[in-house]
Amino acid sequence: MSITVTPTQSAPNRSDFVCEISGIDLAQPLKPADRDAIEEAINRYAVVVFHDQKLTDAQQIEFAGHFGPIHSSAQRARHQSIKHRLERTEIADISNLDGDGKVLDVNARRRLDWLANRLWHTDASFRAIPGALSMLYAHVVPDEGGDTEFADMRAAYDALDAATKKSLEGLVAMHSIFHSRGQLDVTKYTPEELASLPPVPQRLVRTHPGSHRKTLYLAAHASHIEGMPIPDGRLLLMDLMEHAVKPPFVHAHRWRQGDLVIWDNRCTMHRARPFDTTKVRDLRRVTTRDVASTLEQAA
Ligand code: OGA
Ligand code: MN
Repeated sequence: MSITVTPTQSAPNRSDFVCEISGIDLAQPLKPADRDAIEEAINRYAVVVFHDQKLTDAQQIEFAGHFGPIHSSAQRARHQSIKHRLERTEIADISNLDGDGKVLDVNARRRLDWLANRLWHTDASFRAIPGALSMLYAHVVPDEGGDTEFADMRAAYDALDAATKKSLEGLVAMHSIFHSRGQLDVTKYTPEELASLPPVPQRLVRTHPGSHRKTLYLAAHASHIEGMPIPDGRLLLMDLMEHAVKPPFVHAHRWRQGDLVIWDNRCTMHRARPFDTTKVRDLRRVTTRDVASTLEQAA
């Protein structure tokens, strides 16, 4: 049996952003034809959903490795002294659980840091070579809340007027993980942690290589625009963010246990929605590495 790709209507008249793929068990060795069909779906849609999967951490890593080299989790660089729950450094622990598998204390540092996933962002834009594809797998999900929302940055770019598009040409934004955390007043990082992830430049508009479509590249990590007074750059970023997360561009994913969701960080933003954080939500992510800094890629 071969895979079936079914477009999801994410907003009225929009069925080119999210799709569902069925007819495949991702725990089994991936056939080249299926790999290629999945990649084609990712390039076309940006968000791809698989239901009813049963994956170990090793199987999730193995699957992701078919789509590019894997980014080791930056969380570990930021939290060097705490006990980590999961052994494999390729997995980012997106759960609200501590090193012993217990729900994080309200004031736990990792919980405060993790809350920044509630801000619109794209994964690892704060690293010189940013993230490409993120693959998030649901082990345990709460009964209520905790959706993940996605914003279509190609559609958001397309909807800008010609003068705005022109004014954005060649602009470069600075990204730092500590800028997104700072917005929530989460600032207690050691000098070593701060030094491990210095701010990096990324293009504000880039061409998505798999579709050759132009896309905005925004995130809560972006603090200002190179060569512009900081307030002007920050206001521009705020205006673009506000534009890009309007309802026509946004899709909410309601999690079921066993879902694997892939999104393309090069042309989307996402954020977590609130839930009762005394309940367990155990999601684990593997992210592939982009080929180079956006500055070295097509504008
Ligand atoms: C992530 C992320 C959002 C969520 O895994 O990168 O931002 O809903 N997750 O947990
Ligand atoms: Mn994320």
